[in-house]
Amino acid sequence: MTLHSPDGSAVGGCPVEVFRLGGGPGETGGSGDHDDWWDRLREQHGPVVPVALESGVTAWLLLGYHENLTVLQSPHLFSRDTRRWREVTEGRVDLSAGRPALSWRPNALYADGSEHARLRAPIADSIARLDMGATSQLVRQIADDLVDAFVARGSADLIAEYADPLPVLVINRLCGLPDSYGRMLGDLTSIIFGEDPREAEDAVIRLQQYFAGLVVRKRKRPGADLVSWMLEHPAGLTEHEVAHQAALINNSSHQTTTHLIGNTMRTLLTDTRIRSAYADARISAQDLLDHVMWTDTPFQILPARFALQNMLLGNARVRAGDALLIGFHAAHRDPAVYKGRREETGVAGGSRAHLMFGAGPHACPARDLARMIAATAVEVLNERLSGLRSAVAPEELRSVRSPFVRGVEALPVLFRPGNAVGEKAKGEGTGTAGRNGTSGHEKESEDDILGRLLRWWRGSGRGRR
Ligand code: HEM
Repeated sequence: MTLHSPDGSAVGGCPVEVFRLGGGPGETGGSGDHDDWWDRLREQHGPVVPVALESGVTAWLLLGYHENLTVLQSPHLFSRDTRRWREVTEGRVDLSAGRPALSWRPNALYADGSEHARLRAPIADSIARLDMGATSQLVRQIADDLVDAFVARGSADLIAEYADPLPVLVINRLCGLPDSYGRMLGDLTSIIFGEDPREAEDAVIRLQQYFAGLVVRKRKRPGADLVSWMLEHPAGLTEHEVAHQAALINNSSHQTTTHLIGNTMRTLLTDTRIRSAYADARISAQDLLDHVMWTDTPFQILPARFALQNMLLGNARVRAGDALLIGFHAAHRDPAVYKGRREETGVAGGSRAHLMFGAGPHACPARDLARMIAATAVEVLNERLSGLRSAVAPEELRSVRSPFVRGVEALPVLFRPGNAVGEKAKGEGTGTAGRNGTSGHEKESEDDILGRLLRWWRGSGRGRR
């Protein structure tokens, strides 16, 4: 994405690469941790900057806190439906052409008004039915199992071996399947974000089979899980619709939670003041998460909203059909709201008014669940890994090469080798998890779509964990 000033000349005479439509990696500013870059952009252009996507396709990037909040909270002025984008209606952008961030799917995220309410209610009501005590024990059990796999080694990559698989394993269990399916789900999701487009295309089809198969199995044999609850919800969604909402739950929860955990652990490993405030219980795990959500947002740009009429927004003349990109990280650095860190502990704010869980009708329906998963994940690492320290200097940590996500590709750590707690944790976990999610004892040998998919995955040599 090259930024242009309103008169058409490139910013500062030097085009700044932010993100390329289609999800290609940005080169500089905005794709990593270049905080000054965001501040300079706001100083030069105000709270709303015009951006030109590489193909000449245009959008607005929102940098101001209040502008972001207004757009999120005004569904009568801004649609979430990508098909309303002028670039689409005038034929310059094809939403089906492999653009994961700017596509359209028949799920709540891309719907407006009453259709949004119809699709969202089964998701939100099912999440609300979860027994949070049992779910917290389930998360702890899954976190313990992941730690067990590397604790004796004295070293680990906290992204690949922990923060990345954990959310998928949790969601898979909350959807009522044993962990083998969760490991397959995590693997397929990673391939989608990987480097090989042919493999990614195949993984998308396999993931569709996973969610379709999950719904068929839960219709046949309902349990105390999110998918069974969505199927029985009075909104009366079809099986096809439930499969799409289940896929949305997985997509919405994965990278967001991974990088909230990853960025929080990076903060603890690199910021001694915050680390000692946390160790001395002057701040809680929840305070720590809020600090990270203010200062190191797990995703920094969220696509998108589409203007429903012409208007003046901040300093910008927005036209009906224009796309607006939500700029979380920039919004949180807006001097109008960001007042710096507290002297005593080093954490930002003390308020939960950050926008990290969105606002308005599409606000995250799983805010409490997400906070609990991330806080539990951080607590388990700190309890289980003594002498935990980074294995590399902070400047050696590589940022994720994505314009949207803000996190590190790997987080290598060292610690004193310890013992597994697996069997004890599993014994404790099975009973409580059974009140929501599977007990882990469901049969795996069934000859349905899911069973065949699992056999394919194992036979393909990918089922290595
Ligand atoms: C740290 C973790 C998470 C963060 C930061 C986060 C953030 C968000 C944000 C900002 C939105 C609004 C998107 C928009 O306005 O366009 C959203 C929506 C959503 N999130 Fe989360 N989320 C997280 C975890 C989860 C989890 C764990 C789940 C499910 C178990 C979940 C399910 C959803 C769903 C279904 C939506 C769509 C809601 C709608 O369109 O009405 N999220 N999330």
